[in-house]
Parts: sequence; structure tokens; C-alpha cells
Amino acid sequence: MTMVAPQAPHVAQLSYQGKTIDLPVYFGTDGPGVLDLQGLYRETGLFTFDPGFTSTASCRSEITYIDGDKGILLYRGYPIQQLAEKSDFMEVAYLLLYGELPTSSQKGEFVQSVHKHTLVHEQISAFYRGFRRDAHPMAIMVGVVGALSSFYHDSLDIHDTAQRQIAALRLIAKMPTLAGMAYKYSIGQPFVYPQSHLSYAENMLNMLFSTPTAPYDINPVWAKAIDRILILHADHEQNASTSTIRLAGSSGANPFACIAAGIAALWGPAHGGANEAVLGMLTEIGHVGRIPEFIKRAKDKEDPFRLMGFGHRVYKNYDPRAFVLRETCHEIMGESGMKDNPTLQLAMELERVALADDYFIEKKLYPNVDFYSGIIFRAMGIPVSMFTVLFAIARTVGWISQWKEMMADPMQKIGRPRQLYVGQGYRDFIPMEKRLEEKT
Ligand code: CMC
Repeated sequence: MTMVAPQAPHVAQLSYQGKTIDLPVYFGTDGPGVLDLQGLYRETGLFTFDPGFTSTASCRSEITYIDGDKGILLYRGYPIQQLAEKSDFMEVAYLLLYGELPTSSQKGEFVQSVHKHTLVHEQISAFYRGFRRDAHPMAIMVGVVGALSSFYHDSLDIHDTAQRQIAALRLIAKMPTLAGMAYKYSIGQPFVYPQSHLSYAENMLNMLFSTPTAPYDINPVWAKAIDRILILHADHEQNASTSTIRLAGSSGANPFACIAAGIAALWGPAHGGANEAVLGMLTEIGHVGRIPEFIKRAKDKEDPFRLMGFGHRVYKNYDPRAFVLRETCHEIMGESGMKDNPTLQLAMELERVALADDYFIEKKLYPNVDFYSGIIFRAMGIPVSMFTVLFAIARTVGWISQWKEMMADPMQKIGRPRQLYVGQGYRDFIPMEKRLEEKT
């Protein structure tokens, strides 16, 4: 698939030091237009300055569209609510990778191809033994996914479409296996192999919870919830981890190494690590009686504390993914034994209080997807340290779709931002004997 070169029906003018230059303005299918600044430095000697890229479109993409003000998220044009309700993760993965929903036979072939690649090389298990048993599974994932590049490097020509395709399938197929192994290693249980008769979500549960000693019955409500979480997390346009992957990939790096870089970026609490941070926060709050105290802290400018799982850089309306997951969360809570769970009760009360609070209403800070995914994972007994790993499994589909799109884009070039230098000006080297001792 090749993208059409953008047309420039509009022009903006920029005047600086007596010179006026024309800057083309492009409009995509939907959303704000973009000012093409590629000629800015050449024409004016100026760079743009946009820390956090709050006004910067770093690429063209046909994959995902977000309207943060209206709370809209589309994958290849399809609204996330419809996909979550009517589709399944394998179908959504196909859609993100290839641009269209699969026919029945295309879907069958795709699912089979994914199953074919779920096993990891036995040598990979040796990597796990090098980690401490208490290592964070995200740290392990950064290591072992990066290590996959050593298995698929010399044989991989990233300029060949078919080989990029196989790398994408391998990544999607192997991520749950590697994640299950990370968990099993941390609790000292034997690794569980993937099973071809199980769905993607069922396999994830089986590789986390089954043991060789007893049959493990997969709860269909849980499998459905996991599948839904996978759909909702599959892509989110140019967020921190996806941008990391595009930047790493722009140099022609190995895709497995690029995904490892994306996992590292996802780990932070301001991004994917928020689902884990939500549970940390709930534990810190302890019981419903202390909610007002923490709400007060979240509003205090002098206090760095924030309500984890609330707010979003792009959504200044309800996150549509959170909307869907809220429903799933209440479904899971409705399961026997869940209603009396104090952590879940605390989460539901926090949600209620924050949604009614003026500070959160005015700043449009709604619960985000991580708030609910954290609670659901907790209800299933998935350990907190695994939460972001499950996010990484889902997002791998988006990451690799974005990487494939970038590799096929004729406008693609190595990403190389510039800076506003505010350090020392030119100065001559000072010999040791002439350096003054700094008193601290
Ligand atoms: N609790 C309390 N106040 C908040 C929160 C929060 N969770 N989030 C934002 N604010 C306030 C912030 O203090 C600021 O106030 P003021 O205008 O008075 O200075 C205002 O709201 C705007 O915040 P910001 O930090 O400028 O907004 P941002 O777009 O840079 O940050 C965010 C977005 C997600 C990093 C932030 O809302 C946050 O830290 N949330 C908690 C962490 C979290 O849940 N992250 C998951 C994001 S969704 C998953 C993903 O996409 O990876």
C-alpha cells in the first residue's frame, strides 16, 4: 500500500525580519490541518520549538484517527465501540495490519498463521534464567523481545514486504508466550506452551494460570473481557511508545529491537504504566474513608500526587475506550464474589467522587482506559506487575502496523529533531591547575 502525496490547497504566510514565506497547509480525511514546515529552516534559519509535540504531526498515517474533543477513536475508519462489541482481537489485528476487515477465509488463514508462530525458540528460555526472580516483567519483556532480534536479524530483509509481514506475525504471535513465561518465571512455575485450539485471549489466560498438575478451566467471561481489552488497546496513533518505534525504525533498525524500545517507552506511569499505578494508588488510599484526602491532594498544586487513571493528553472528553471498559468492568464485578472485593469497591467509589468533583469536571479529567483495565486485571487475579505487559501485548499490533506503514512510505526519512540550545557558549579548554574548586 502506498500513500498518495498530499495536495496543498491552502497556504499560510509567515513573516519574519522583513521576509514573508508561504507555508502549505494540508488537510487529511478528518481532523485539524497541518502546516508544512519542511522548508522553514531553509527559508528562515528558524527551527520550530514544540516540547512534548503538542502541536506537531510527525507523520502521515492511514491507521488510527482520534478526535479528543468529541471522544472519537477509529481504527481504519471503524469506531472503537463497534469493533469492541461486534469484532474480536484477531479481526482487529488483521484490520490494523492490512486496512480492511477480513473475509471468513482471510480470517481463518490469519489466525492459523498467528498460531504457527506462537512458539519461541527454546534457547529463549535460557534468557529468563539470567533475570532475578523478582525482576519486573516489563524489564524482562524489554530484554527478551530485544533478544528476538538476535534470532531474526541476518535472515531479515526489512526492505522486503513479505519479510516485514512475517516479522509482524512473529511479534503478534510470540508476545503472549513471552509474557506468560515472564510471569511463570517470577513465581517459579514451569513455562506453559501455547495451545493452537485456544483463542488468543484464552491462550493468554492459560499461559498465565494453568499448571501441569491440574486442569485449568478458562472462564469465558474473563476471556471475552481480555479480548475486549486487547481490541481497545491495539492502537492509539502517534503516542509516546508508537513514536518511539517509528523513530527507532526510521534508522532501519531491526523491528524486534524497535518493539523492545516501544515496550520501554510504554512502561512509564504517564503512559502504559498507569494501569499498574492505579492499583498502587488504590492500595495507598486503602479505604473509601480516605478518598476525600486523596482528592484534595490531587488538586493541590504543591503536591505532585495525581489521580492515576484520570486525564489524557488527547481526550478532553470521555475516553471512548474507557466507556466500553467501564461496562466490562461492571460485568466482571457482577460475577460472584467480586462485589465484596474492597479494592474494587474503593475504585468504584473513587470514580463516582472524582466524576462529581468540580476540579475534575472543569479540567475535563475523566477516567481513562487504564483506570478500568487495572481494576479488571485485579479482579481476575492477574498480578499488578503484569498489567502493563498485557497492554504491551495488545499494542504490539498497533506498533507493528505503524512500523510497516512507515517502512512503505516513500516520504519516510530518518527522524532527527533539532533543539533550542541553552547551554554554555564557546569557551576554551581550562587546564586542570587553573580550574577553581567548586564549593558545594
Ligand atoms: N490528577 C490531578 N490533576 C491532573 C491529572 C490527574 N490525573 N491529570 C492532569 N491534571 C491537571 C494538571 O495538574 C493540570 O493542571 P493545571 O492546568 O492547573 O496545571 C491539568 O490537569 C492539565 O494536565 P497536563 O499534565 O498539562 O496534561 P497532559 O495532557 O500533559 O497530561 C496525562 C496527560 C495523562 C499525563 C495526565 O492527565 C496524567 O498524569 N494522568 C495520570 C496518569 C495516567 O492515568 N496516565 C494514563 C494515560 S492514558 C493511557 C495511555 O494513553 O498511555
